[in-house]
Amino acid sequence: MTKVVIPKFKLNNGLEIPALGYGTWTGLNEKDEFISEDIPKLVDAMSYAIDVGYRHIDTAHLYRVEPEVGYVVNKKIKEGVIKREDIFVTTKVWNDHHRPEDVERSVRGSLKRLGLDYVDLVLMHWPMSVSKDGVDEKIDYLDTWRGFESVLKQGLVKSIGVSNFNVEQLIRLLANCNVLPVVNQVEINLNLGQKELVDFCQKNGIQVVAYTPFGRMVPSRFDPNYPAVRHDDPVMLGLGKKYGKTVQQIALRYLYQRGITSIPKTLTKTRIVENASIFDFELDENDVATLQKFDNNFRTVRPTFWQNMTNYPFDKVDVAIPEIPVSLRIWKNGANLDID
Ligand SMILES: NC(=O)c1ccc[n+]([C@@H]2O[C@H](COP(=O)([O-])OP(=O)(O)OC[C@H]3O[C@@H](n4cnc5c(N)ncnc54)[C@H](OP(=O)(O)O)[C@@H]3O)[C@@H](O)[C@H]2O)c1
Repeated sequence: MTKVVIPKFKLNNGLEIPALGYGTWTGLNEKDEFISEDIPKLVDAMSYAIDVGYRHIDTAHLYRVEPEVGYVVNKKIKEGVIKREDIFVTTKVWNDHHRPEDVERSVRGSLKRLGLDYVDLVLMHWPMSVSKDGVDEKIDYLDTWRGFESVLKQGLVKSIGVSNFNVEQLIRLLANCNVLPVVNQVEINLNLGQKELVDFCQKNGIQVVAYTPFGRMVPSRFDPNYPAVRHDDPVMLGLGKKYGKTVQQIALRYLYQRGITSIPKTLTKTRIVENASIFDFELDENDVATLQKFDNNFRTVRPTFWQNMTNYPFDKVDVAIPEIPVSLRIWKNGANLDID
C-alpha cells in the first residue's frame, strides 16, 4: 500500500493541523436530497485514507456521518493504526444551534455520535442563524461565539473556529472575542482565490482551510455553462505534464504553497492517494503566477436561499430566491438515518 506523509500547519493556540484532510460531505442530489447511499462507500474510503496516512477528517453535524466517522476513527485506534492524539477531527455546529446554550448541546451531541471524548476543532458552520423551519433567527454570531468559548473552556474541544466568515465579520469577531478563532474554513479553489480574505486571515494568525478545493475542475462537477476552469484546460494539462502530476494535484499543491489547508472529498481509493501526493514537488514562481490568473471570483457553493438572512456572508446575486432545501433543515444521523 502506498503511504503518504502529510505536513502540518501551526495554529494560533500552539496546536497543529495537517495541511490536507479528508472531506466527508457526500452532498445533495439534483432534487436536493441527501445522498445517503454513499455512506457505506465513505466508511470504506475513510478507513483506507487513515491506512494510507491521512490524519485529519473534516465532518459536521449536517453531514449525518458523525457516527461513521467515529466508528472508523475508533476502529483504527483499536487496530493500532493510530492513537487518538494522532488524528485531527473537525466537526461543526449547524445554523439552528446558534444560541450559546445550544452550541454546547450540539457539541455534546456530536461527541456522543462520534464516540469521542473531545474533538480537535469545532467550527461555527455559517455566520447566519436559521431555525429548522427556515426562519432567520437573527442571533448575533458574537453571542454564538460565547458558546464556543464555553465548550473550549470545558475541554469538550481542543480548538474553536469559524467557517464562511467574510473579512468584515472576522474584524468584528476579533475585536469582541476572548479566544481567537484558530481557523476560517471557506471555499477556495483556482476560480475563487479569496486573496483579500486569505491575506487578512494570515496577517491575523487564522489558519485558512479550503473547502471545495477543486471548484468545478473535476469531471463530476463539469458544467460548460459556468465560467470555471475545465479539468481538460490546456494550461492545466501542460502544468500537469511539466510536473508529472494530475491537474487536481496541481490545484491542491497551489493551495498548499499559499499556506492553505485543503479538505478534498473523494470516495475513490486511487484519488485518496493522488490528492495527498502533493508534497514532493514545488510549483515555480511563473507557474504560480499562471495559476493566479484563473481567479475570476466564481463561487461553486452559492446558497442563494439564505441570501436575505442576517449575516449572510457573500455578495448577493439577482435571482429569484429558492426555498431552503428541507435536507438542510431537518435530518437524522448515520447510515440508517435514525440517530438524533
Ligand atoms: N464549511 C462548509 O460550508 C463546507 C462546504 C462544502 C464542503 N465542505 C467540506 O469540504 C469538503 C470538500 O468539498 P466538496 O466535497 O464540496 O468538493 P471537492 O473536494 O472539491 O470535490 C469533490 C468531488 O471531486 C471528485 N474528486 C476528488 N478528487 C478527485 C481527483 N483527484 N480527480 C478527479 N475528481 C476528484 C470527487 O469524486 P469521487 O468522490 O467520486 O471520487 C467529488 O465528486 C467536503 O466534503 C466537506 O468536508 C465544507
